[in-house]
Amino acid sequence: MAGGAKEGLRRVHRGRRILIDIEPLTAEYFVTVAEWLSKPEINQWLTSEWRDRVIDPTVIAMAVRNKRNRVFLVRSGGKPCGLVALADWDPIDKVAMIWYALGDPAAGGRGVISTAVHGLVEVAFHSLGIEALHAWIIDGNERSRRVLEKNGFREVGRLRRATVHNSRRLDRVYFDLVCQDHGI
Ligand SMILES: CC(C)(COP(=O)(O)OP(=O)(O)OC[C@H]1O[C@@H](n2cnc3c(N)ncnc32)[C@H](O)[C@@H]1OP(=O)(O)O)[C@@H](O)C(=O)NCCC(=O)NCCS
Repeated sequence: MAGGAKEGLRRVHRGRRILIDIEPLTAEYFVTVAEWLSKPEINQWLTSEWRDRVIDPTVIAMAVRNKRNRVFLVRSGGKPCGLVALADWDPIDKVAMIWYALGDPAAGGRGVISTAVHGLVEVAFHSLGIEALHAWIIDGNERSRRVLEKNGFREVGRLRRATVHNSRRLDRVYFDLVCQDHGI
């Protein structure tokens, strides 16, 4: 399948060396990923499809089978710790939405997901022929905002009161990144 990162991404984050790999998500990890996405501290920030619910591994299997999705397992130093994904891939318009989650909180704040997103952006633009990526965050999700900004995404606008977080109606804040911005 097109779209696997072939080499690990080596980065130095705040003086620490990290080695991140992304690989297409396979059945072996559906249970692990379902457990991650079932955690309220993670899924409260995701789209309503995943939010505030316990996720069955069969739901992960269906998501992986959906041609409009590309889901990748993230490893840090070889250990599975999160996922990065494309959704709503439209190969005619060459656009997709990017999203991600860190499953292992112990790995947080070390640049793991930012580096994995860098890898997925490369896959999207180089291997999948995508021209324009977008993402949205729930207003106030500053960690996710940082992940996007560190990867060159820029804020393009907001849909007011278009999502719900902890029973409060909040804005969706949209970001985009196009091939040209990325220097390709
Ligand atoms: C968002 C998430 C994926 C980040 O994962 P991570 O591996 O910790 O991310 P990184 O370490 O690569 O980057 C996080 C950045 O946010 C910063 N950060 C952490 N807490 C923060 C806060 N409260 N306010 C602002 N920035 C914060 C970190 O310092 C880091 O930036 P830096 O590298 O410039 O220091 C993870 O927190 C998560 O899974 N959250 C829940 C799911 C989610 O929000 N998914 C995104 C939906 S769009």
